[in-house]
This record gives sequence, structure tokens and C-alpha cells, in this order.
Amino acid sequence: MLIDGHGREVNYLRISVTERCNFRCQYCMPEKPFSWVPKENLLTFEELFLFVKVAIDAGVNKIRLTGGEPLLRADLDTFIKMINDYKEGLDLALTTNAFLLPEAAQRLKDAGLKRLNISLDTLKPDVAAKIAGKNVLGQVMKGIDKALEVGLKVKINMVPLKGINDNEILDILDYGRARDIKVRFIEYMENVHADQALKGMHGREILEKVKEKYTIKALGREGASPSFNYLIQELDYEFGLIDPHKHDFCENCNRIRLTAEGNLIPCLYFDEALSIAESVKKGDIQGAADVLAQVLKDKPKENRWSEDELEDREISKRAFYETGG
Ligand code: 5AD
Ligand code: SF4
Repeated sequence: MLIDGHGREVNYLRISVTERCNFRCQYCMPEKPFSWVPKENLLTFEELFLFVKVAIDAGVNKIRLTGGEPLLRADLDTFIKMINDYKEGLDLALTTNAFLLPEAAQRLKDAGLKRLNISLDTLKPDVAAKIAGKNVLGQVMKGIDKALEVGLKVKINMVPLKGINDNEILDILDYGRARDIKVRFIEYMENVHADQALKGMHGREILEKVKEKYTIKALGREGASPSFNYLIQELDYEFGLIDPHKHDFCENCNRIRLTAEGNLIPCLYFDEALSIAESVKKGDIQGAADVLAQVLKDKPKENRWSEDELEDREISKRAFYETGG
């Protein structure tokens, strides 16, 4: 079992397999970064897998692959199969923008993938083009349908932004309910890479929108999930709200993050990270385990999005396209 310096059990590893992306979402990567991590710095799937084994042996039982856009990395299904074959019963999931999903869904399912989180911020093609920087909606919707068709479990993530998609909260809920998919609203997390003109909707504003039409009941957090669940009573349908600005958000945090070049990050907000690259390149299992232990010891107690006055401090420098949200 892995326990961090604040007594929290850590059993969830998120791996960003690439920072590259075929979208340019305004809240994440509005411009292509000045420099990508050079390809030769990316860890191979074999190198990543060595760390995955160390983490699983130490107590990790939930793994999510993220990016950037993870489906841009060729043979992702092979990596999924390697992980899946190592340990039965592992909760193995993927976060994707769904653009490449129409052709990838079946292979992912066959490799052992169970669950997908898909970003869907709008149901309007022109708004989707504005948010992602290109015309993506048709392909994304095809990807969602295909994932459902092959039997993958799907959740939808929406980041509500003022003046952009804030009038679509109820429509996205309808879309989710019609397909029996859970929708999770994610508060926009300020970061230096995003379009600085963006204003995210606060969690309570999102709930107000839902309450304009429905009666909702707070259900609470599901274990260590960052998502707080609500029931729409009229529909008997649940949705989630991910509200990192809320003070109790970090209390049960169970996760660490690994970037594509091998930086092991204790918290999404913070810049502190230690690298496992050298260890895994040498095949040094003990070295990788030592880095994991050190990062757990240093894991911060909480993020800093909850501080009231954002202007009073530096905003997070962490790029979401490196850490995978
Ligand atoms: N704030 C909130 N969520 C973000 N994501 C990316 N950048 C941000 C941000 N600044 C989310 C997207 C996507 C996931 C990969 O991360 O909604 O679903
Ligand atoms: Fe790409 Fe996801 Fe970032 Fe959008 S949010 S630019 S799809 S990594």
C-alpha cells in the first residue's frame, strides 16, 4: 500500500503518454507550445511499463492514460494490453478528445480498456470549432457513438466557460441522459498556458443553471473521486461536479501523475516533480521505486486554486497538456 506524507492512500496513477495534441483548446493549449518535448525524450512504452509494474506492485490498482491526446501515440492499444495482461482486475481508463476514436475504439476495447472520459464542451459545431481551434464536433460525436457501440463505458467532461458554452449546461445533460452517459462539469482551472481572457463558471453557478429547470439533491463524493455527485430528481439521473476551487477537494486525493518524459508529479497544481527517466532507462527497478517513495512523501496537502483572490499569487504554471488534466 502506498501512503503519502499526509496519510492518504495513493492507488491511482495517471500517465500522460504524449503532450502533443490535435486540438488547441483555449483552456489548455490555445497555441502550439513554443517547444515540444523532443521526441527522443519521450519514454518508450517499455520504459513506462517498467514504472507501471513498480507502481502496481506497490499498490496502484487504477491507471488512466492521458495526454495531450493519447491516441496520437501509435500502438497505444499495445501498451494497454501490456498493462492489462500484467494484472487482472486493474481499473484501466483513458481520457481522450475522441477525434481519433471512430477507428480506434474497437482496438482499445480488444486490448482490455474498460473506460473512457471524453471532452465534450458543446453541442454546437461553431462553438466546438472556437474552443478546439478546428472543426471537430462531427468526428467527436462519431467517436462517442463508436465507443458506446463497442461496449466501452463512457463519461463526458465539460468545462463551462462564461460567454462561450455556459448556455449549454442543460443541453449537455440531455445529451448524456439520452445515451445513459454520466456528465461531469469541470471548473476551469486557471493556468499560464490558457487563453488569459477566459472566465470559467464557478461550481455554484453551474448548479444554479441546473436548478433553473430541475430539483437536485447532493449525493457526495464517490470515494476518492474529485467529482461531487448530484441527483436530478425529476429524471433520476446523476451528474458530477469537479470543483478544485473548493476547500475540501484535496482531502482524499489518491493520485499521482507521470508525464511522457518521466516526471513524476505529486499534485496537478504544483511544479515540483522528480524524474524516473534515468532509472527506467537503466532498468533500475529499485531506483524507480525510490523516486516513487520520495514523491509520495512530498505530495502537497492541497492545491492552491481554492485561495480566494487569484490575483494575489502566481497562477499555476503546470501545462494541462503535459499532465493530462
Ligand atoms: N481547466 C479545467 N479542465 C481542463 N482540462 C484541460 N485543461 C483544463 C483546465 N484549464 C480538462 C478537459 C479535458 C481533460 C483532459 O482535462 O476538460 O476533459
Ligand atoms: Fe488537447 Fe485535451 Fe488540451 Fe484540448 S484539453 S488541447 S483536447 S489535451
